[in-house]
Amino acid sequence: MALPSSPSGSAPASAGERWPPLESSPEVFNQFVWSLGVPEDEAEFHDVYGLDADALDMVPQPVLAVILCFPDPPQDASYSSDLLLSYGERETRDPVYFIKQIESLGNACGTIALIHAVGNSSSEINLVENSGLDVFFKSTASMGPYERALFLEKDDAMAKAHSLAASAGVTELCDVVEEHYICFVAVNGTLNELDGMKDGPIKHGSSSSKSLLQDAVPVIKGIMRDIPDSISFNLMVLSRKQNNAGRGPACFSPTYMASHLQLPRGSWLPSHTLPVINIDRLSMDEVVRALVIQEIALACRKQGCFQVVNHGISKSVMKGALEAASEFFELSTEHKEKFASADVQQPIRYDTSSRDGISTARSLLKHYANPLEDWVQFWPINPPTYRKKMGDYAAEIQGVSMQLMEAIFEGLRLGPLYLQEKLENGVQFLALNNYPQFLHCGDKVGLGSHSDCGFITILLQSSARLEVMHHEDDTWTAVPAIPGALHVHIGDNLEVLSNGQLKSLVHRAILNPDESRISIASIHGLSMNEKVHCAKELVDEEHPEMYKESSFQDFLDFLPSNHENNYKRFVESLKIDRDE
Ligand code: OGA
Ligand code: NI
Repeated sequence: MALPSSPSGSAPASAGERWPPLESSPEVFNQFVWSLGVPEDEAEFHDVYGLDADALDMVPQPVLAVILCFPDPPQDASYSSDLLLSYGERETRDPVYFIKQIESLGNACGTIALIHAVGNSSSEINLVENSGLDVFFKSTASMGPYERALFLEKDDAMAKAHSLAASAGVTELCDVVEEHYICFVAVNGTLNELDGMKDGPIKHGSSSSKSLLQDAVPVIKGIMRDIPDSISFNLMVLSRKQNNAGRGPACFSPTYMASHLQLPRGSWLPSHTLPVINIDRLSMDEVVRALVIQEIALACRKQGCFQVVNHGISKSVMKGALEAASEFFELSTEHKEKFASADVQQPIRYDTSSRDGISTARSLLKHYANPLEDWVQFWPINPPTYRKKMGDYAAEIQGVSMQLMEAIFEGLRLGPLYLQEKLENGVQFLALNNYPQFLHCGDKVGLGSHSDCGFITILLQSSARLEVMHHEDDTWTAVPAIPGALHVHIGDNLEVLSNGQLKSLVHRAILNPDESRISIASIHGLSMNEKVHCAKELVDEEHPEMYKESSFQDFLDFLPSNHENNYKRFVESLKIDRDE
């Protein structure tokens, strides 16, 4: 029997407006399904951060459906028709719920994938009676895929929920419009790929609810290999909620997301989650690496920061650096003041004042670290282990910074080797901070809000109290102290280089009421006199250069005048005013 064909001609002008593209994030999809009748305590979407066994193991089970979002496939990437059951057979034998994506549905492929996910999980999810999805599935149960599409097109409840979900994303619409969603489900022991643009379910051999995600991986890898732009993939699962059974310990889980802001339910705001990224996957096969690069790119755009685990620096080296810092701060004032200076140009500087306009209660030791052999001569010889312990840590952090910069530049599509040599020989500036315990009087803030100068800062903290400002709504989020993790954030130079695609992170440190706190910030940039300017690859007619060029030396020259200026961030002073 012939398949019913899609309506020919172009989509009505209103299709794109009624069905705008959806951002593929669990936050967006969760709000969407929960508002349409999937009970919150029954099922939830999660990100999948890699295709390796460790990453898959961390995904909450049982998985009901897998959703892949990827750049629009090349036109010729269709499957041979013998993989498809004919329409007649499907009607009578195939229990898979399938709906076609017709042109008048605009960019509804995210919604279609979601309908495929929930529609094939009916035995696992008890939809709220008379909810949007309940009514939709009851009304379309006996229809064919094409008829269901026509029904969806006219379903105002679904269209409204879809456009609300679309408006909840944080990605620019133009960034998501080229993407396509497909869904994988296991029905009656068979793995089904459900793509609304195809004529029916594509069968991929046997599968079960227990092995669905693992079984889908080879098919997903195949799709990724066929599409060169492998950075834009995103993978999510719809999991049945089971009191977190099956999850690994949170702090080692690459999928662990720290949520700190209690958002009112259904507020449609993306939650302020701080990603934790397992970076040993950067050295795995190219498919996995592409996924990690994409996670980093997304974190840089959305939050301006992330934490890294499995970065390869041993716990003893990190502990050694914190011990060296703490032993230094425990020395007598006389000892420490040997390094005291008000001159920010000094190669090493100890300070307790608020001369920089942001310190309120901290004391600090700042010095350079790359290349080590040039700078170590200026470092303290007391405590005696300082040079060894801080030197080991600094060298390893420099290595991690190189890996991260490669990934960030790749995410900006500047290529992994971009500025590599200049960064290898660039500035590494260590700021050791010592904050006293908060004694319930005076100012709670130890270090006021500011952004750092370099490309990235990598921060090691003895306990939590760093807070980061979300650049879209200026709210503060506390960064958790995850054992063994390092916090990474974007500095002014990267905002400039990315021509504003990334924003330097505003952050501050609060005093801890339980104990004093030590942190070591490692700031990475180009060499002292090397100017950083907007990358020419990121400047065009539509995106003119937004910032003046500057060097690390320019930043140091800017500092002394800054507090008179009512403390302005360096990057603000670089912005080119285009309204003039
Ligand atoms: C810094 C800094 C944060 C912290 O030194 O620039 O932001 O938690 N430190 O100490
Ligand atoms: Ni800082």
